[in-house]
Amino acid sequence: MGNVYVLDHPLIQHKLTYIRKNSTGTKEFRELVDEVAGLMAFEITRDLPVEEITIDTPVTKAKAKTLSGKKIGLVPILRAGLGMVDGILRLIPAAKVGHVGLYRDPETLKPVEYYIKLPSDIEERELIVIDPMLATGGSANDAIHSLKKRGAKNIKLMCLIAAPEGVEVIKQEHPDVDIYLAALDEKLDEKGYIVPGLGDAGDRLFGTK
Ligand code: PRP
Ligand code: URA
Repeated sequence: MGNVYVLDHPLIQHKLTYIRKNSTGTKEFRELVDEVAGLMAFEITRDLPVEEITIDTPVTKAKAKTLSGKKIGLVPILRAGLGMVDGILRLIPAAKVGHVGLYRDPETLKPVEYYIKLPSDIEERELIVIDPMLATGGSANDAIHSLKKRGAKNIKLMCLIAAPEGVEVIKQEHPDVDIYLAALDEKLDEKGYIVPGLGDAGDRLFGTK
């Protein structure tokens, strides 16, 4: 069964508090999401393999560690996942970025896929699916099924906030996928919003309503 990691780091938790606040405006919200995504990437890449190489420092030859070339792919779920891309790319600039376009039908809450474009070698990459919100789990579940159908073998899911319902869906449908969160909240409300949550992540990132 996939593991669920809640990244309980003081910097992540502090910034998440301001992301949640209703009074936080679009500019600050976007900056904070970007920063938290970077901090989470630091944790999610903890197990990347390294190898030792020999380098010349100004003083001497030395053995030093370098990433051993594992290929990473980021897959933001449009739209809101876009807000987390740059923060991660600053740390992993060589990552390729695929996109899955999904929106949640406001009546049925079921995801509707409208776009997909992925790196050609996804089967060789460790893919990190990113979306600020894991609510019913429908969007992330669909996105992960889409990636697997196209050959993806190694997938992690990274979200800012999840509801227990969404985590359960991913654990049942994708027991091979580890989930990384900044917070696991209480529940969903009758409209499928995470409680206490942060509201509509896409609208808050892009200033739409
Ligand atoms: C939001 C969010 C997730 C989805 C989560 O996107 O960014 O993709 O809802 O809900 P779920 O777990 O119940 O599927 P939304 O559909 O509002 O689209 P947007 O990113 O374009 O605003
Ligand atoms: N999508 C959001 O943007 N927010 C929620 O609380 C649930 C789904």
